[in-house]
Amino acid sequence: MNKVFDATSMTDLDEGVLDRGAFVSEEIYRQELQTVFTRAWLFVGHESQIPNPGDFFSSRMGEESVILVRDKASVIHVFLNSCRHRGMKVCRYDQGNTSLFTCPYHAWTYATDGKVRGIPQYKELYDGVLDREKWSLIEVPKMVNYKGTIWASWDENAPDFETYLGEAKLHLDQALDCRDGRPGGSEVIGVHKWVFPSNWKFAAENFLGDSYHNPSHRSVDLIGIGPSARQGIKGRRDNELEMAKHVWIGFAAGHGVHSAVQAMGAEYVSQFANDPEIEAYFRHCHEERNQRLGDDARLLPFTGTIFPNTSYHGRQPRNLCVWHPHSPTETEGWRFFFVDADAPTKVKDFLRRFYMRYSGPAGMTEQDDMENWLYATKASTGTIARRYAFNYQLARDQAHLDPEVNGLTVRGRVNTKMTEHMARGYYRRWKAYLDCADWDELLGRNDPRFAATKKGSPQ
Ligand code: FES
Ligand SMILES: [Fe+2]
Repeated sequence: MNKVFDATSMTDLDEGVLDRGAFVSEEIYRQELQTVFTRAWLFVGHESQIPNPGDFFSSRMGEESVILVRDKASVIHVFLNSCRHRGMKVCRYDQGNTSLFTCPYHAWTYATDGKVRGIPQYKELYDGVLDREKWSLIEVPKMVNYKGTIWASWDENAPDFETYLGEAKLHLDQALDCRDGRPGGSEVIGVHKWVFPSNWKFAAENFLGDSYHNPSHRSVDLIGIGPSARQGIKGRRDNELEMAKHVWIGFAAGHGVHSAVQAMGAEYVSQFANDPEIEAYFRHCHEERNQRLGDDARLLPFTGTIFPNTSYHGRQPRNLCVWHPHSPTETEGWRFFFVDADAPTKVKDFLRRFYMRYSGPAGMTEQDDMENWLYATKASTGTIARRYAFNYQLARDQAHLDPEVNGLTVRGRVNTKMTEHMARGYYRRWKAYLDCADWDELLGRNDPRFAATKKGSPQ
């Protein structure tokens, strides 16, 4: 009767069950902060947010504040936003430009490369001997600029970012590359930030490819909020991918995506006939992309989550979203919206309006999703509710398919029907982080499910 509840005692991912403690337990949450957010690669911002020397953007890694900054020599850094003297935040603004970070407490100052620049009464009170170099801002040891997106890890032994992404890279690329197929070239046109009472993993899991929750969006589908807002077109996106074959793919390191493969020779679907300029732009992008990428242009993105807490919408709308943990039952979502940097102003404005009606705190689709996550979190805190595990058995007993989809080879564990194998894989990896496993384990190198793309193996 008095036995202490083990927050993951009911978890068995081969069986397809996950203890609700994963979403509400304070003990599990503390463990996540220590083992997941100090090791995994985390998204911190985009280079277009800090184009000039001295530009900074205050970001987060887990619960902790970090500063993404471009120094005087134009080198990008990520620093812990905490003074080395007594820990005060040295930067209290969301973003801006500065030549120095001056701590508001006792006024130590740091240059944009993190070095101590000034210490009040240095000669008199520290006898001029304090080793300034040693007391620089704490810099994240691993950082990468991947197609303009900045990612960081606190683990010096973390594998390089592309190894970490593995075969999920191709899908993330679709969200980051220009619409005409040029690599990179995107810019952030705005960031929505909002707090909601849900565990952070509900959101991350949603974008792994949970298409099963489609009934939640019935109202936005009925009114048709897609980019073209064409008369007679139902759905919250345009039906440009109607003829495509949808794929749900899990990757060894715990990432999961929902993408689509167009049929060979798929034509551009005319969508914006009411506006010749917008129509010409998207038609041009479609044709250019086909020319540039050839057969590979047939792979198109929907959504995905890069383990642990960065999700993307690859196309309609197009953004990266980070789910920052606040507590087991509270999350701060930051959605970074992308456009091609050289797109016409009219196209950027057109996309901005669609993004806002779809995503973020006021976005009609995101509101549907959040309502589910926050009620599910709240309901799972109950004493009785916590005795019952969640079900992750969807398509558990179905064999995974050949990686050949519409004649295109797609890598990873591929399904052409809805499945929860991405979620099972994600939580297997999450469990490995909690258990302080080594990087071979965290990357799924020992997982027989990913040893070979063998048709018919269990999920
Ligand atoms: S805490 Fe920053 S100068 Fe004292
Ligand atoms: Fe949704």
